[in-house]
Amino acid sequence: MAKSQIDPKPYKGQYSEQKYNQGYSMGHSILLRNILIIASTILFTACDSGPSKQDVLATAQTLVPKDPVVAEIYQRTCRNCHTVEATGAPLTGDQSHWADLISDSSKEQLLENVINGKGGMPPFGLCMECGMDEFSALIDFMSQQ
Ligand code: HEC
Repeated sequence: MAKSQIDPKPYKGQYSEQKYNQGYSMGHSILLRNILIIASTILFTACDSGPSKQDVLATAQTLVPKDPVVAEIYQRTCRNCHTVEATGAPLTGDQSHWADLISDSSKEQLLENVINGKGGMPPFGLCMECGMDEFSALIDFMSQQ
């Protein structure tokens, strides 16, 4: 009896099956690769939607109010916390964070929270001689709105 007659799978069939499997797993890895590309595109897009944490910190540390009186108060008080990430204070110039704070409550509410203190912020943000005008100017400056 010739080998091809006993063998349930003739050589040709085996070959095409192998080819089929190869094609199948290749199709799989292409699919996986595409998923990875799409996922990383989404991730990158998400990161691109705002400045990085380092950029926000660098901006916070370089901004100074134009008005010399406001600048003096800011440098002496607010700046010590609002340019230091570890304090948990909203960073100066972090516009999206400040926009959220203002829309979640209101500028008046923020003013009240500075005067009464909030979380890690002591009352008056440590500027005991400041009045509403100064606090208002400081918030406008820090929020860059
Ligand atoms: C000792 C650190 C410190 C100083 C000084 C400081 N802040 Fe803050 N500030 C914080 C922290 C921490 C928060 C976040 C409080 C929270 O949400 O729990 C905050 C939050 C705020 C908020 C948002 C309040 C809200 O309702 O979410 C405003 C406005 C603000 N500070 C203004 C000022 C101004 C103006 C000064 C300077 C006169 C100042 N801060 C000085 C630490 C400080």
